[in-house]
Amino acid sequence: MGAIVKADRMRSGDVVVGVTPAIAPVVGAVSYPFLLVIFHQIVGRSGNPLSTLQVIAASVVLASTAAIPAVAIWTVYRCNLPTALRRLCYFTVVAPTLYVFLGVLLTLAGANISDLVVWVGVWLLLAGIAVIAGRSEESVVPGKIPTWLRVAHGISAAILCAYILFHLANHLVGLRGPAAHAQVMAAGRSIYRASIIEPLLVMMLLFQVATGLQLAWRWSASRQDFFRTFQIASGVYLAIFILCHMNSVFVYARLVRGIQTDWTFATGSAPGLLRDPWNIRLVPHYAIGVFFVLSHLASGARIVALSHGLVRLGANRLWLFGATLSAAIAIAILSGMCGVRV
Ligand code: HEM
Repeated sequence: MGAIVKADRMRSGDVVVGVTPAIAPVVGAVSYPFLLVIFHQIVGRSGNPLSTLQVIAASVVLASTAAIPAVAIWTVYRCNLPTALRRLCYFTVVAPTLYVFLGVLLTLAGANISDLVVWVGVWLLLAGIAVIAGRSEESVVPGKIPTWLRVAHGISAAILCAYILFHLANHLVGLRGPAAHAQVMAAGRSIYRASIIEPLLVMMLLFQVATGLQLAWRWSASRQDFFRTFQIASGVYLAIFILCHMNSVFVYARLVRGIQTDWTFATGSAPGLLRDPWNIRLVPHYAIGVFFVLSHLASGARIVALSHGLVRLGANRLWLFGATLSAAIAIAILSGMCGVRV
């Protein structure tokens, strides 16, 4: 925390740096699915128990997928990149959820092409566009962010909190087993699947994505302090996560496949999340999704606390507590989904 505050003080008079700092986030995003392949090679398909060494190696590889968004956030925060490259780095944060989205879209399209080929192609294209745009860029003057947009985004988030907190609590109950999870879900469905509520919920989430992306676009026109950088990055991840998640639940599962969107669906059916080469991508996608949705709310709470007169140090500590709790909840939910029981 001290390093972040110190670096924030050193920001005035920064010169715009070149392409080099953006290389690490882009390489991270490109290599993301290859980390999953390595994970699967270690865990194997045999179903035999793993040795301690294999468990440690697999955990390190899986945990390193979380380093990809972290490196991107740190790069955007520390380096005064040209705007196009800053935005590209923000976008690399979404790699874990974009890879799920890509996989589902290719399945829906019945495309006979490897996810890996499309993945590498997409990132090379995006990087090429950003480098060219960054070179010819005039200095971008950030437009004023309309107050109504921030207020509308905040109010709608506060309302959506009711569903999101219930939903995540429901997944936490998975630590007690599938039956307990199903019982809580059945109670919740009687409300959130009601014919008036469900379309409203989806519309509000789409509104959240649209307003969030507008805010992120405007804020990302210039370099921000650490907390704002984190808020923008987590928001961009959530925008893609929500679109991907809605597509998986409503289009892929319910509309096209006609399958129940229950515990079995969420945990990767018979092969489970960890041993299946496709399903493994759901682990970072969900874990980082849960972490970012809760820590994004903590970022919003920090701004509200500051505007109500809380001293900066107190507000920063509040955020740190929120982010730590978010990580603990994400790990607990995913542990339950991978078979841990309490
Ligand atoms: C571990 C993380 C998560 C898992 C495993 C998960 C899984 C699921 C499942 C299985 C459903 C279908 C529910 C049903 O049929 O009743 C669902 C629906 C939904 N999820 Fe999630 N979810 C996760 C995180 C999130 C997050 C972070 C958000 C919000 C940002 C979210 C938003 C929604 C919404 C809006 C629906 C549609 C509700 C409806 O059926 O009307 N989920 N999710």
